[in-house]
Amino acid sequence: MNETDRAPALNQLIDALPKAELHLHIEGTLEPEMMLALAERNGVSLPYETVEDVRRAYQFDSLQDFLDIYYLGMSVLINEQDFRDLTVAYLEKAADQGVRHAEIFFDPQAHTERGVAFETVLDGISAGLEHGRTSLGITSKLIMCFLRHLPEESAFEALACACKHKDRIAGVGLDSSEKGLPPALFSRVFAEARQEGFIPVAHAGEEGPAAYVAGALDDLQVQRVDHGVSALDDPALTARLAKQQTPLTMCPLSNLRLKGIPSLADSPVKRALDAGILVTVNSDDPSYFGGYVGDNYKAIAGPLKLEAEDLVTLAKNSFAASFLSNAEKQRHIAAVEEAARSY
Ligand code: HPA
Ligand code: ZN
Repeated sequence: MNETDRAPALNQLIDALPKAELHLHIEGTLEPEMMLALAERNGVSLPYETVEDVRRAYQFDSLQDFLDIYYLGMSVLINEQDFRDLTVAYLEKAADQGVRHAEIFFDPQAHTERGVAFETVLDGISAGLEHGRTSLGITSKLIMCFLRHLPEESAFEALACACKHKDRIAGVGLDSSEKGLPPALFSRVFAEARQEGFIPVAHAGEEGPAAYVAGALDDLQVQRVDHGVSALDDPALTARLAKQQTPLTMCPLSNLRLKGIPSLADSPVKRALDAGILVTVNSDDPSYFGGYVGDNYKAIAGPLKLEAEDLVTLAKNSFAASFLSNAEKQRHIAAVEEAARSY
């Protein structure tokens, strides 16, 4: 197949593949149209009047540049219905891109800090997830992230809230600003969270060094690393991730838009695949970074010269790296194989 025929054929395959999304911040799915509509509904003032104004603001030079706008944008989320609407809108887009299972982050401290109750956030998101299950056939799990720019004490408060809702929160994560904030700062709150039965994951190696990825493994005992880009700079750590089969949830368009990589040809996804790492492709904050999960697969396929086989592996990895039961993983992986056969 020549290059001109290749892209549409691979895009068709990407559309057809069942996928799990494992790195998705629900607050990062807030599209400009909904941001403005909720600002109006809730009487929140924003420094933007039109959708174009909002989109113009989405020029980032770093993670912190993005986070400033991300926290500003989510100030329109006030009521349970807002969180439900946000979650349903994401799941509808995800369903269109072949997502069958989603493990979704939320940032409760960013809401409780502004006076929105933990339960308002959780009840709204849960209602949206229930709609996803019953109307769209998407299963889901929730991962509560601690904000690493806030003190440990605030993380402990969030954990105390989560402990009242173990039926609805499967895991804990660590996100927000990374530079200068090593995982070890959160060792104690992660130890307690693990003891309480939450599955630990953490963002590491997005802007921080490979040592932070090792820190997430050793100090927080995470079962999955979110991003992990800088891990590929360290051959021993790369070999360790492959040997342990610790999954990496990579987000190519996010890395590009936050200038973690100069171009998509520099995305570490293919290097991770070639190293035998259980790497997955995800969207992170799709409204801000220009694409949902299928768009991320499509964006890297050409620049990384991925073959159909690589795309099938990525889709299988997405289920293998999930926190579903073995039986559920096998069922989804068989569906990926079936979709690949019909391609
Ligand atoms: N990195 C760290 N924290 C975040 C991100 C991210 O990409 N998105 C939302 N919170
Ligand atoms: Zn993220």
